[in-house]
Amino acid sequence: MKYLLARLLYHLTFESFPRLKWFYKSKNNTNQICVYKADGKKRFLKLFSPLRGFKAVVCGKNNLIKIENSENIDFKNTSIVIFGDNNTITLREFSGGIYIKMNSNNSAIILEKGCKIGASSIFIGNIGERKVQNNIISIGCNSAINGANIQTFEDNSIVSIGRDCLFSWGIDIWCSDSHTVVDKKGNAINCGKFITIGNHVWICKDVKICKNTKISDNSIVGWGSVVCGIFEQENAVIAGNPARIVKKDINWDKKRYEDYLLSNNVKNPQIPSGGGYRRKIKSAA
Ligand SMILES: CC(C)(COP(=O)(O)OP(=O)(O)OC[C@H]1O[C@@H](n2cnc3c(N)ncnc32)[C@H](O)[C@@H]1OP(=O)(O)O)[C@@H](O)C(=O)NCCC(=O)NCCS
Repeated sequence: MKYLLARLLYHLTFESFPRLKWFYKSKNNTNQICVYKADGKKRFLKLFSPLRGFKAVVCGKNNLIKIENSENIDFKNTSIVIFGDNNTITLREFSGGIYIKMNSNNSAIILEKGCKIGASSIFIGNIGERKVQNNIISIGCNSAINGANIQTFEDNSIVSIGRDCLFSWGIDIWCSDSHTVVDKKGNAINCGKFITIGNHVWICKDVKICKNTKISDNSIVGWGSVVCGIFEQENAVIAGNPARIVKKDINWDKKRYEDYLLSNNVKNPQIPSGGGYRRKIKSAA
């Protein structure tokens, strides 16, 4: 009966105002959606406020969705679903269409200030399965993610993405193989525990990043690469399948090539030394 009433209320309230939707169900009224203004004061939400587009379904207990600096948030198609207890989602000023799904307990997702997230998704656990425990996914300040799918399915997993990163489209970051690899004695051997992406890392198009991987600061992952393992070397180009370091002592800039030259007042750019050029020169000789 209570459930039917809740559904009815949901339809009357939110389906009638589809631009502002949240359905917020709590066993003991212990779930919270807290929205703050830039000055840190709690914000009173009116219909058709700039928070429109935000949707949330929260079940379980002691879950907290904390939205800071909310004047600067453009939620577009955001949708947040939480099943489980003691989870926290902290959004510190971000824009764009992110779909968050958590079937977990004691887990956290943190998007720091200035994150720009395009059509992307973050999933901790899978709805309808066992709730995963103690996961953390964090994205650092001013990182831009155009299209990535970040997933964790195992207990105690941590996915950490640093600040000032740039992610292209078609990216998968999976801190789990989803199924179990066993040795001949039946021991499970493919536990996924972490993915660490440093600061100012550029992940090119269609990259796949596997469990237990580290990519260090100021690096680039070339498009179509499949990255497994720990790359301690900073300022490197990592590319291929399986990805290897193909270039060292590089850095990168968000600007396009000509714009970079203009903004740095470079009148006589160096002759490109890229692999493609070298091969062309070699084959022409
Ligand atoms: C990673 C990248 C930026 C590197 O460019 P670069 O510094 O000019 O690299 P080079 O062309 O000098 O290549 C260096 C070596 O790595 C290899 N390499 C480069 N990219 C590779 C890739 N994606 N997969 C496998 N090998 C690759 C080259 O063949 C070359 O090998 P060689 O030295 O044996 O000849 C570029 O290759 C790339 O992937 N661009 C795609 C960018 C993208 O996805 N943009 C979307 C918008 S965000």
